Amino acid sequence: MTDRLTIRRPDDWHLHFRDGAVMREVVPYTARQFARAIVMPNLTPPVTTTQLAAAYRDRIVAAVPEGVRFTPLMTCYLTDNTDPDDLARGAGEGVFTAAKMYPANATTNSAAGVTNVENLYPVLARMEAEGIVLCIHGEVTDHSIDVFDREKEFIERHLRGIVAVFPKLRVVFEHITTSDAVDFVMASGPQVAATITPQHLHINRNAMLVGGIQPHNYCLPVAKRETHRLALRKAATSGSPKFFLGTDSAPHLRKDKESACGCAGIFGAPYALESYVTVFDEEGALDRFEGFASLHGPAFYGLPVNEDEVTLERAEVAVPPVLHVMGEEIVPWHGGQSLGWNFLG
Ligand code: DOR
Ligand code: ZN
Repeated sequence: MTDRLTIRRPDDWHLHFRDGAVMREVVPYTARQFARAIVMPNLTPPVTTTQLAAAYRDRIVAAVPEGVRFTPLMTCYLTDNTDPDDLARGAGEGVFTAAKMYPANATTNSAAGVTNVENLYPVLARMEAEGIVLCIHGEVTDHSIDVFDREKEFIERHLRGIVAVFPKLRVVFEHITTSDAVDFVMASGPQVAATITPQHLHINRNAMLVGGIQPHNYCLPVAKRETHRLALRKAATSGSPKFFLGTDSAPHLRKDKESACGCAGIFGAPYALESYVTVFDEEGALDRFEGFASLHGPAFYGLPVNEDEVTLERAEVAVPPVLHVMGEEIVPWHGGQSLGWNFLG
């Protein structure tokens, strides 16, 4: 039995840091485990220009603890009015690593998102030409579509079209939650990949809705039924380079989640690697963890793998029921539970 696992230092290919005091307090959790992270741009106002992204990057860098090496990789929030020249310039200058497409109102702070995906085609053409990665929140917002079907519907209505019209555009289908998404990614060429969160590997929708409503298991896209969770676990642990780590860590204060209209988002950063490695262990796939966590993402983005290493050991870790940001309570993913793996650094 493997009791210690040493792998190249991983990266988190999708997360939310927010801004201001919250950002300064959550960045250290990610910087403790990961070398780099793709930082989502859904601030208020959103990060829509090179200038805004460069300033946001500098604020994040200033929040990295002394002696810790961590690089935020910035994304451009695509809107109906994105300036392709600014996007191309920002990518050329190394400010933008990717651009993020939110369908308008699909999730937290996405009101400025794209109202009609096809209107974005001129920008996507430029991204394809410039080699800029497109990160997609893949859910339709049509109120007539059941919330559990919104990812599947997005594939049919929009994603097949994007991938067909722009065959060289690199696309990350983010935080996938369904077997339909797994099948779509597997059937697509190497330019299409997906991130998978720890929560979608651990829980199905019962965890959100059985025994009283469980707001700390609520995120978007919502967890689906068990067959989908099993498909995600199979994909993540398959060794396929199309699937890689992206926590979608999305901090919201406890009071904002435990409310009549609770916020979507799970704060996965503090025990992210412990959470993922538990799944790989349960699936008998510890030998494939390094690929998912540390190798597939850099290969897809065309970035070097990290030189240093981290070690995890089989040992019980009690995840605190609450942590604090700005003196307020925040509930981490697995809060109050124990996990069977400990991150040694
Ligand atoms: O659950 C989520 N929270 N999903 C998202 O897409 C956004 C995120 C957030 O920003 O809180
Ligand atoms: Zn997200």
